[in-house]
Parts: sequence; structure tokens; C-alpha cells
Amino acid sequence: MLLSEREMAPVADGLANSQFLRDVLAGLQTRPRAIPARWFYDRRGSELFEAITELPEYYPSRTERALLAEHGKEIAAIAGAGRVVVEFGSGSSAKTPLLLSAIEPAAYIPIDISGDFLRESAAALGRSFPSLRIQPLEADFTGPLSLPAAHGAPRLGFFPGSTIGNLVAPAAVDLLRAMAGTLGESALLLIGIDRVKDDKVLVPAYNDASGVTAAFNLNLLHRINRELEGTVPVKAFEHLAHWNDFASRIEMHLRATKDVQFTVAGRPFSLKKGETLHTENSIKYGPRDARVLLRAGGWEPVAEWSDRESLFSLILAAASPMPSAP
Ligand code: TRP
Repeated sequence: MLLSEREMAPVADGLANSQFLRDVLAGLQTRPRAIPARWFYDRRGSELFEAITELPEYYPSRTERALLAEHGKEIAAIAGAGRVVVEFGSGSSAKTPLLLSAIEPAAYIPIDISGDFLRESAAALGRSFPSLRIQPLEADFTGPLSLPAAHGAPRLGFFPGSTIGNLVAPAAVDLLRAMAGTLGESALLLIGIDRVKDDKVLVPAYNDASGVTAAFNLNLLHRINRELEGTVPVKAFEHLAHWNDFASRIEMHLRATKDVQFTVAGRPFSLKKGETLHTENSIKYGPRDARVLLRAGGWEPVAEWSDRESLFSLILAAASPMPSAP
């Protein structure tokens, strides 16, 4: 069952755009220049992201999908039937059927910032699971959320895709703690976390031969031009992805290939040749690192699965009260 648009949480376009403008202006003024990654995801950005997940170089999606398919029964055995599944940043909900068909959920709440995309994905999922209650929520999941009433059912948070790695550690911990608050008592969280590995495998995943990731990154500039009256010369920027070993993260930047000047909403900006705009981090965690991160965020790992090559991990964790004693 799909609720009508009227019943969904309203997020006015104008409001979302003005926050976009504030973030872009602030990001261009600070040094190093950086724009929050959430602004990648307009419709075009969401579509390009889906294309990334199908790339041969992009191992995380297929590895995580295989883990979900292989371990669905074990997940179900721990979670039990009748949970409300809450997915953070659901996008196309491509991995969701694997989970939903394994665990007999009471309802499904997909949360995504890209409204049209969310509604279409929810409608498509509703056709595959006609008797499932589906309640899409258009929202930025890094902000405060109010979920539809719990009906007393315990919740299972679903946070695949190693999106947690797109947040720096303090923000990741804040988000995990906020999720614990949102999901409530007896909640579980099923989270995908990408692992540290050879940079010969890591870097191509963020700089594919066919240029889809480059188009995804550059779409941010097109979006600024489309929505914020920007005059950014997109052709004068190139996609850059590199492994920052000390910070254990892939960094994506947009680099000016020559001196550029442009305006955004009438304000002037300039970059010298070689200067960059930092657009995303993708932090990679070792197995122990990932468990420490979860504990710091109020979640105790109860089961963990990884592929044979240890590329990616899927962790099921239980909401744990913050203990004060050893
Ligand atoms: N969170 C995933 C990752 O870091 C997916 C992702 C987010 C991504 N933004 C991206 C992948 C940009 C490639 C490019 O891998």
C-alpha cells in the first residue's frame, strides 16, 4: 500500500533550494572549498548514481547485494518477523527486495532527499510487494526525522551502500546516535560498510573508465547553474578521485583546469588553475574500526558478514544504551 503524496512529509522546493544556495555560497567562501555531498542528488544525480552502482569498477554494490542474498535467512533469524524497516537514503531501493523478502516486515519506510525519485521507487517496490505497507518520507536523513507512528512494532534500520563512509567521523557518530533515537527501543540496524583495500581497486571505483563518476561529480556544477542562477564554466572543471591514506578515505574533487571566474546567484567567485572544490569523502574502515565506530554511535554489533576477498562488510547491530561502566 502506497500512501498518497498529501500524507507524506512536505519539504518545500523553495526551502530545499535556499539551503542549497546557502551551502554552495558558504562552501565556495571557505578554504578548502567544499560543498556537502547531499547536493549531488537531484533527479539527474540520483540517476547517475544508479549508473555508478552498475559499473564494473564499482565493486561495493554487487558485493553488498551478494551478501544480502546469501545471508538473508540469518538476518531474518536474528531480526524476527514483523519489524518496520526504515531505509536511510533509499534511492532506487535496488537492494531492498533482498531484505524485505527475507524478513517478513510489518511496513517499509524509505527515506530519501530526492522526492520524485523516492516516490517512483516506492511505487515500483509496491508493485513487487503488493500487501506491504510502504510509507515514503522525503527528507534529508542527516537532519531530525519524525517517522510515522510505530504501531508498537520494533524497527530495523537499513543503511546500505557504505553511505556512513561519506560522513567524517564526528558526523557519522552523530548520525548513528540520531538513528538510535529515531528507531527507538529494541531497534536493530543493518549497515553496509566498505573496507580498506588496495588503492588499485579503490581508486577506479571512483574514477571509472566510461566517465560516469566524472559526470556524477560534474552534475553538481550543472545543478548550480540550473537551480542557483550559476554561470560556472563546467567544461573548465575535471573530476578528480584520489586515495588519502592517512585519512583512510577516497576524496572526490572538482579541479579547475584553468583560471575561472563565475557567479552564483549574482555573487562572484574565482578559482586559479589547479584549485579544487572538495565534493565528497568515502571513508574506508578496517573490521575493527567499523565495530568501534558503531559502538561510538550507540550500536553493538551482533553479526557481521563479508565476502571472501574482504571487500565489503554487512553488520547487524543492536541499539545499546550508553553504558557508563566497563
Ligand atoms: N556511499 C558510496 C560510496 O562512498 C556511494 C557513493 C556516494 C558514491 N557518492 C558517490 C560512489 C560518488 C561514487 C561516487 O562509495
